[in-house]
Amino acid sequence: MTSINFHLQPGGSLKGRCRVPGDKSISHRAIMLGSIAEGLTRVKGLLEGDDNIATLNAFRSMGVEISAPRNGELRINGRGFHGLKGPEESMDLGNSGTSMRILCGLLAGQEFDSCLVGDASLSRRPMGRVTEPLALMGGGIETTSGGTAPLIIHGNPYLEGVRHELRIASAQVKSCLLLAGLYATGTTSVVEPGITRDHTERMLQGFSYPVERKGNRVSLRGGGSLLGTDIDIPADISSAAFFMVGASIAESSDITLEQVGVNPTRAGVIDILNLMGARIETENLRQAGGEPVADIRVRSAFLKGIRIPEQYVPVAIDEFPAIFIAAACAEGETVLTGARELRVKESDRIQVMLDGLLELGVDAVATDDGMVIHGGPPGGGTIDSRGDHRVAMAFAMVALRARGEIKITDCKNVDTSFPGFQEMARSLGLQITAEVDEQ
Ligand code: S3P
Repeated sequence: MTSINFHLQPGGSLKGRCRVPGDKSISHRAIMLGSIAEGLTRVKGLLEGDDNIATLNAFRSMGVEISAPRNGELRINGRGFHGLKGPEESMDLGNSGTSMRILCGLLAGQEFDSCLVGDASLSRRPMGRVTEPLALMGGGIETTSGGTAPLIIHGNPYLEGVRHELRIASAQVKSCLLLAGLYATGTTSVVEPGITRDHTERMLQGFSYPVERKGNRVSLRGGGSLLGTDIDIPADISSAAFFMVGASIAESSDITLEQVGVNPTRAGVIDILNLMGARIETENLRQAGGEPVADIRVRSAFLKGIRIPEQYVPVAIDEFPAIFIAAACAEGETVLTGARELRVKESDRIQVMLDGLLELGVDAVATDDGMVIHGGPPGGGTIDSRGDHRVAMAFAMVALRARGEIKITDCKNVDTSFPGFQEMARSLGLQITAEVDEQ
């Protein structure tokens, strides 16, 4: 087994312009919806990360003709709602929770059975949140006794629409049920307890499929069809967030991140950092492929600790590893509450971030649903990212303010969401090198 470790020299600043790779969430949805649409879908700006390639391979194994992605461009010959073929083998979704959870909904309504597997991290993540509401629609999915993958999906072409109130704010669960709803009789409605990313709803409309939103309820009627289309995917705000934090905490920094998706259901990180005193400006706001896009300028700033308003939690859920690093470099106390979901991401992000912060001598305390961090100059040290891509990239940024060298272990999964991270980070000024560790 090979592993990748990052080495970072302390100090420096970030300067320049760049476009981080395409949005992971939108890339998954483009492949999924393009595969079940009628006719050709042409995608630009696709993220060619391991997670999206896992989704792509799953649809190829169900008989969909998809070109090899090149510079983010992809062509999908959609097979229509009922054109997928039963795969011959289990579909391996690697580290990708989004692929597994959303695919459950799509596969529940097929005429064939299928099996979904993942890596060690994905095999620990809770799947009951999708299998239980799908069962109410007639979806039959077997999990382990702990409610985890491997998942065996018994396809049922007679799903029935339901009205389901989500217990947790989750775009993955919402999207899973909406895709099952495409195959169900009648109307499927999902009621959300808080705002979550709405890429599925936007993209369904882009494929000419009617979706209705009333307040916190999203509904669609099953049985129509999607029409193949052209999709332009913006740069991923979740990847841009690392550089937003890096440029904020490092002295003399001034960067512009181009064509970043700033959908309000994703952009909580900008609001949180600006509340902390960051100087983040969105310029050149425009629409691309049904999503708002902007260039984001970030300059060094004096950050102060804040109590993070809970309404921002679902709209910044993937950015907390980076936000914790901003808090560690801020003056005063930052308090996060209402974010228990962080414990069931690619790693337990509260525990893994706490362990890393303590290693660097930062004063931090974990709570059941968040963290309290007292900012202070971080030292150097060795951080175990536990294979969590966002933990690895967040700790890479701390080097810009650390007093000693930083080593980060187990960074291979950075490729799940941000292939080329090191090169781009280096081109902006981060003093990063990587070492392959043959274990
Ligand atoms: C995602 C939704 C979020 C997010 C994940 C991607 C999506 O998860 O954390 O990285 O693409 O729908 P939840 O919906 O479970 O909060």
